[in-house]
Amino acid sequence: MKKIESIGVITTGGDAPGMNTAIRAVVRTGIYYGMRVFGIFRGWRGLVENHIFQMDLASVGNILNRGGTILHTARYPEFKQKRQKDIAMKNLKEKGIQGLVVIGGDGSLRASAALYNEYKLPIVNVPASIDNDIPGTDYTIGYDTAVNTAVEAIDKIRDTATSHERLFIVQVMGRGSGSIAIDVGLVSGAEGVIVPEYKFDLDKLAKSLLDGKKRGKRSFIIVVAEGAGSGQDIGEKLAHKTGLDVRVSVLGHMQRGGSPSALSREYACKLGCHAVELLKDGKGGRMVGIKSDHYTSTPIAKVLTMKKKIDTESYRISHILSI
Ligand code: F6P
Repeated sequence: MKKIESIGVITTGGDAPGMNTAIRAVVRTGIYYGMRVFGIFRGWRGLVENHIFQMDLASVGNILNRGGTILHTARYPEFKQKRQKDIAMKNLKEKGIQGLVVIGGDGSLRASAALYNEYKLPIVNVPASIDNDIPGTDYTIGYDTAVNTAVEAIDKIRDTATSHERLFIVQVMGRGSGSIAIDVGLVSGAEGVIVPEYKFDLDKLAKSLLDGKKRGKRSFIIVVAEGAGSGQDIGEKLAHKTGLDVRVSVLGHMQRGGSPSALSREYACKLGCHAVELLKDGKGGRMVGIKSDHYTSTPIAKVLTMKKKIDTESYRISHILSI
């Protein structure tokens, strides 16, 4: 295989804290190995619209601790079309870019698979999403930060919930995945966790809340994953079933922002570096990841056939401790 002398780096899909740390790792590793590194601005849309510029060491100075992505990102479903991908490939070719590092979530994997299979572009994916919903890696960049952000918010909500003796329904992000809700529920001491992966029984939950009240509990928190239904609906039903004074809090996009945690930064540094090294060694079509504390890589085609496992142990223990 021809030696790769020039690579691109792009962030796609929803942003995640640690994306900047990963961009820095990619740029610095590329330059370390004597490559030219190009940034692609505004995700797949920017690639099609030709917003591509060369990056140097200084362009990634002082960004590792910053939330968001300096390359910006976009939801761009149009990239499924062949015409858009043809234009993207032409733009890469014109700049002499021979390989691509894609930092993003599950949507980016499908686009990357198409570029790798249909256009033979050497491409390596770095999993970054607050949802932690990507198989082939135990953790995604940004997940740990989002969990910490939600926990900090719930600790504050607990204060007011206790003062007013209320039940709070806290809706956290996670379109199709209950990962954030399960971890947050466990470590914030929630009285219940509702996620799309498990059936839940509102009558049982209402009874356990009332039992808790009889024993002297003064505040209640139920964490609901976005993908499990509307926090508002669940709140109304629980108010009716329990007679408790209920409030609903939707944490929303605050979970996507903020300075990345030490763990999100560590994953980003290592996964970004590994991604470039794979390209250097001619190993495209792969996604880097962390499995049982080891840094690995898996063919993107395989990742797309896998299903992410939920943390059943956290869910089980959270249920026991929520008594
Ligand atoms: O990036 C993942 C995520 O934050 C999901 O948890 C959420 O459902 C979705 O993105 C929201 O996307 P957008 O910001 O495009 O509305």
